[in-house]
Amino acid sequence: MILDFTNRRVAVTGAAQGIGRSIVQCLAAEGAHVWALDMDEAGLRVAAEAGAKATRTLDLADRAAVGRVFDEMAESLGGIDILVNCAGGVRGQVAKPIEEVSEQDWLVLFEANVHGAFWCSQAVAPHMKRQKSGRIVNISSGAGLRPSLTGIQAYTASKHALVGLTKQLSFELGPHGITVNSVAPGFVLSNPATQRQWESYGPEGQARLVESIHTRRLGYPQDIANAVMFLVSDAASWISGQIISADGGRS
Ligand SMILES: NC(=O)c1ccc[n+]([C@@H]2O[C@H](COP(=O)([O-])OP(=O)(O)OC[C@H]3O[C@@H](n4cnc5c(N)ncnc54)[C@H](O)[C@@H]3O)[C@@H](O)[C@H]2O)c1
Repeated sequence: MILDFTNRRVAVTGAAQGIGRSIVQCLAAEGAHVWALDMDEAGLRVAAEAGAKATRTLDLADRAAVGRVFDEMAESLGGIDILVNCAGGVRGQVAKPIEEVSEQDWLVLFEANVHGAFWCSQAVAPHMKRQKSGRIVNISSGAGLRPSLTGIQAYTASKHALVGLTKQLSFELGPHGITVNSVAPGFVLSNPATQRQWESYGPEGQARLVESIHTRRLGYPQDIANAVMFLVSDAASWISGQIISADGGRS
């Protein structure tokens, strides 16, 4: 099976680092024209070196700003074929007892993991409908399917919401030739935060985690990018509404 993305018009959010940057790199290497979106301007410069043709710095929780960027992209490229909603994560938070979680703690994770994905999907839908084709992939998490290793309530709740959104958008957009799927990563050492999380487990906790993974190794950002590449390819045209765990068999 050849996955060819020559001239495919792709937007990747959360592209400044980690998994998102790896997705940019893999799709660009196969010929895609990738726009990289993130709130981290310095990180986006690295994404450009990884192959992104254009970068835009924005907070994806800002619906109006999201709408403007996708209209600009569709106008300059003549359409949008693929959206990968990868932005998200724990935004520097750590687990706290429920009594100590502030309103801001709660809201910021919903903005990062759900609102942005919804605003972006809403912005690309009319362009994809016009083409009668499109691919949307949401990067959820094992935390969207069960309690999270992070222990962060809003992270788990927001990733479960993203899983639900994936299924609902698949149902709504499928008749228009648009597939909507999700990749649910297991633990990937993708950035300083996950490195700190890994170190906090200590040697015994680390051994227990690796032991719980069927393939007995942690994931690499490219493992997640590979699953995304398949789901956004022509080969996956009859796969929609699915949550694919890329986690070495932990689930
Ligand atoms: N690394 C893991 O182990 C792991 C496991 C499961 C799921 N995930 C998910 O995979 C995705 C990527 O993870 P990662 O480890 O590469 O994370 P990361 O923190 O390295 O990258 C996330 C990116 O999203 C951007 N972002 C967050 N909120 C934003 C907003 N409101 N507007 C614009 N940009 C925003 C950040 O600036 C950052 O560059 C996330 O959605 C994360 O929840 C990661």
